[in-house]
Formats: sequence, C-alpha cells, structure tokens
Amino acid sequence: MGKNIPASRQAEAVKAAAGALRRGALVGMPTETVYGLAGDASNPEAVARIFSAKGRPRFNPLISHVASLDLAMIEGQLDERAIALAERFWPGPVTLVVPVADSGRTSELARAGLRSIGLRVPGHTLALDLLREFGGPVSAPSANPSGKLSPTRAEDVERDLGEHVEIVLDGGECEKGIESSIVAVMPDEPPRLLRPGAVSRSQLEEEVGELAAAGSDAITAPGQLVSHYAPRAAVRLNVTGVDDGEVLLGFGPAAEGAALNLSPSGDTVEAAANLYRMLRELDATSTSTIAVSPIPETGLGEAINDRLRRAAAARDTD
Ligand code: TXA
Ligand code: MG
Repeated sequence: MGKNIPASRQAEAVKAAAGALRRGALVGMPTETVYGLAGDASNPEAVARIFSAKGRPRFNPLISHVASLDLAMIEGQLDERAIALAERFWPGPVTLVVPVADSGRTSELARAGLRSIGLRVPGHTLALDLLREFGGPVSAPSANPSGKLSPTRAEDVERDLGEHVEIVLDGGECEKGIESSIVAVMPDEPPRLLRPGAVSRSQLEEEVGELAAAGSDAITAPGQLVSHYAPRAAVRLNVTGVDDGEVLLGFGPAAEGAALNLSPSGDTVEAAANLYRMLRELDATSTSTIAVSPIPETGLGEAINDRLRRAAAARDTD
C-alpha cells in the first residue's frame, strides 16, 4: 500500500527513505541502470536482510553506492586510473572494483569478506538525493530475487520484493535498462572488465586503454553465475526462423513477425533499455520459449548478449 510515491512528493519520500535506511530497513532505489534493493552498507543486519530478501549467496559481494567521488574515496583506494574512469563516467553506470580503504564504512558482510570493494555513483537524481540525504554508503544489488530478471520499473520491485522493502522510490522507467559495467582497477594489474554493462567496452577503453578479460579469479558473482537473469520461459538465441510455440523477441528491421522488437532500427542502446521489460512482458504470456534475434557484439551488444546467454543457460527446475 502506498509504496509508490508520486513525483510531487519525492522530496518527502527521499527523507522517509533515508530514515528507513538509518533504521536498518530496506528501500527500493531507482538508478539509471536498474532498480536497486538498498540498505545501509555499514549495518551488517541491514546487509543480511538484503542477502536474505534476494536469496543471494553470501559469497557475492554488494556494490556500495555513494553520492560523490570524494565519498567513494573514503570507501576505496582509487588510483589515477580509477579516478580517471570516475571523473569521466560518474555519476553514471560504471562500477569500480578497487582495494578497500582503511577509512571505509562498508561492512565486511557487504564485501563478502573481500579486500576489494565495488563502488558506484549512480546517475539518477532520486538516487543521488537519497545518497546525499543518507550520507553513508548504500549497498544495492539489483532488486530482483537472485537469478531472476532485473527490475526496470518501481512496480517490478513492488511485485518481486515488495514485502521486504519499506518504500520504493518511484523514479520511472530506468533509462539504461541494463546493469553498470564493472571494471576492476587493482594495483599492479591492468584494468579488467568484470561485467559488460551500460557503458560499452570501447567507451571505457578510450579512458584506460585495452581492458583485460575478467580472469579466472573473477568473483563468483551472481552476474557471473552461468544461469542468471532467467525468465520463466526457455530462451533460444540467434534465431532467424521461429519454431511453433515460440514468440520472437526481435532486433533490427529484418525481424519480421516479432512479438516485440528490442530496437527496430538496430540500435544497441535502445535495445539495452528495452531488454528486461520486454523479456518480462513475453514471460508473462503463456509461451514456452522466447526466441531472440541475433544481436551484434558491438556497442552495448556485448552486455545484452552476456545477459541473454545467461538467461538461456540450462537451469534448475525450482
Ligand atoms: O547497475 C548496477 O550495478 C545495479 C544498480 C542497482 O546499481 N546493481 C547491481 O548489483 O547490478 P548486483 O549486486 O546485482 O551486481 C553487482 C555485481 C555482482 O556481480 C558482484 O559480484 C560484483 O558486482 N561485485 C561487487 N563487489 C565486487 C568485488 N569486490 N569484486 C568483484 N565483483 C564485485
Ligand atoms: Mg543483479
């Protein structure tokens, strides 16, 4: 009841949400990528609530969200390369994984015990308002049950995790629609792309040169578990001919007969913004299989294909 707050009452809602965070309660936080399930990163009980609400394995660390680069520097040690990325892309959809700072307030549980920390300044007015009002670091994984589609609208959060949150700040539909790009900037190693996301590899590389692959020591991150971002229906990729009983999620002008088209003009930015919403929509039909048109690996296609491959991976039946 009344968890979706109209825009006119946003300032009030932000205050209420910051109050909820201070009490250790959870809040639905809009960002430019996807909605986050937000809790006080310094409060282990709040963090435990996040893990439990999502059914998320505790070895998966959470990103700490802060309002500014200065605040990020309290939590983590950003070297010149990390600062260059932050200055170029923050506020915005890039998460930097850097060594933890001694001054950091993010709890060990939120970091899953690691000596590194994921940090991000989100590019959404309401998120920034909330982070400023609250002051401290905010843990916020995507606000979906672990392994399911990420939410891009306040009502998705209500439906999937409504009982676990005190308030969902309604920031409208997420502009990017796909999670942040995660770049590890650790001492004595080249920057590594741990998760492709809403900023393309080529844009990141303009700033720091060629990005190394995630590497085998990559965290057993939920986004890196093979079956993740999974709808109910089966997903079949690179489809040019649709089988009986399938619905087509198209891409580009050639996708005739598509039930929905991620981007009729073939724009990967538009396709990323539509991805989770359209998967949800088709998943809500009775179809057994969502067939997806081929999507190029260029631009945000790398991130889209990453999520689609995980959605298509074989999974447990429960
Ligand atoms: O766009 C986003 O990043 C969204 C919004 C809400 O900010 N958040 C998000 O969080 O996608 P989550 O928890 O669903 O995904 C965060 C990813 C996980 O794969 C996690 O393992 C990884 O970040 N991560 C966090 N801290 C890390 C660390 N210290 N080392 C390596 N990976 C880390
Ligand atoms: Mg997630």
